[in-house]
Amino acid sequence: MSDLPQTMFAVLQTGDGYSGRFDGPAIEDAADYLEGAEVPVPTPGPGQVLIKVRVSSVNPSDLHFIKGEYGQPRLKGNPAGFEGCGDVVAAGEGAEGMMGQRVSFVVAQGCSGAWADYATTMAMNCIPLRPDVSDEDGAAQIVNPLTAMAMVDMARQAGESFIVSAATSQLGKLMISLGRDLGLKPIAIVRREEAVTALKEMGAAEVLVSTDPNMSEAFKTISRELKPRVFLDCVSDQMSEQIFAAMPNGARWVTYGKLTEELPKLTQMGQFIFMGKKIEGFWLTNWMRNTPPADQIRVVGEVQARFADGRWKTDVSTRLALRDVVSGLAEATKKTDGKVMITP
Ligand SMILES: NC(=O)c1ccc[n+]([C@@H]2O[C@H](COP(=O)([O-])OP(=O)(O)OC[C@H]3O[C@@H](n4cnc5c(N)ncnc54)[C@H](OP(=O)(O)O)[C@@H]3O)[C@@H](O)[C@H]2O)c1
Repeated sequence: MSDLPQTMFAVLQTGDGYSGRFDGPAIEDAADYLEGAEVPVPTPGPGQVLIKVRVSSVNPSDLHFIKGEYGQPRLKGNPAGFEGCGDVVAAGEGAEGMMGQRVSFVVAQGCSGAWADYATTMAMNCIPLRPDVSDEDGAAQIVNPLTAMAMVDMARQAGESFIVSAATSQLGKLMISLGRDLGLKPIAIVRREEAVTALKEMGAAEVLVSTDPNMSEAFKTISRELKPRVFLDCVSDQMSEQIFAAMPNGARWVTYGKLTEELPKLTQMGQFIFMGKKIEGFWLTNWMRNTPPADQIRVVGEVQARFADGRWKTDVSTRLALRDVVSGLAEATKKTDGKVMITP
């Protein structure tokens, strides 16, 4: 570590632990949760690596996290940011094999976050990148793509058709095109009429607009025809409940995000008894803990191949300099047509 600087710029969490609230990922002012500061460059512990960040991304999970409403507690004074792409410049005991590699990474709990000049994480949370995968695709290579692979696989085992809400999200688009490539019939739900054509071109068999007053009736007709058994849902509001209620026997409502504040009310309890319906959650962190390493390696290889040959791409809405994150993040996240990317 001798040729590395002593200090770095980082965007630090100002909150600690959980907030006890659940307002969704929208933020009005990042200064409510973050501050920029010059801090010591972290030292990687055993099994960890130090990464010089090239690009880091902003996911809804980062926004839930800095607000204190994610599945792990905030650490006041620790850099924020879960995912990025960079070069391994130092390694702790047992991680020396990663030295010099350009990697995609997610920050392990307790390590130093990606919205900084340097980040640390466990070596096992890094994926060495093929040269033909760009830095920006590399900075969004794990959270959404692995979730897409895992959840579409889950849907495939349950039938030919599945439903995706907030289908214009980066993850939604990955799942729609993957579903099409696997010969499935994805049903996309969007909230903007303008998105319908693009989603159909991407591979959706049907696209429904949640703001359309006839949405529920239209869905019932489609549901009878395509019989989707899995609803992959990150909106999780009353419309989601209505969709679930109109799905056939054995349907599963898989909630994996909460983009809205609205809490749904269950209206059809008998369906759990008589139709074998289920509500369940999906969290990539648990998938990574529970999936055998050989299967994860196969999925990671497929993800990189899809980005390298252009079947998948990361849409970028805004590029933000690291030093402008606190002042510019709230405005940048209001654009919903792609990821915000942060560059040191
Ligand atoms: N559980 C897990 O392991 C896991 C892993 C990865 C991601 N996720 C979740 O997956 C979801 C999508 O992530 P992403 O990175 O793909 O997001 P993203 O690209 O930032 O897109 C979010 C999109 O959702 C739409 N949206 C926002 N608020 C909405 C609302 N209230 N109702 C309906 N649509 C809304 C917006 O599209 P329009 O403006 O076009 O409508 C926006 O572009 C998030 O909830 C995230 O937390 C979960």
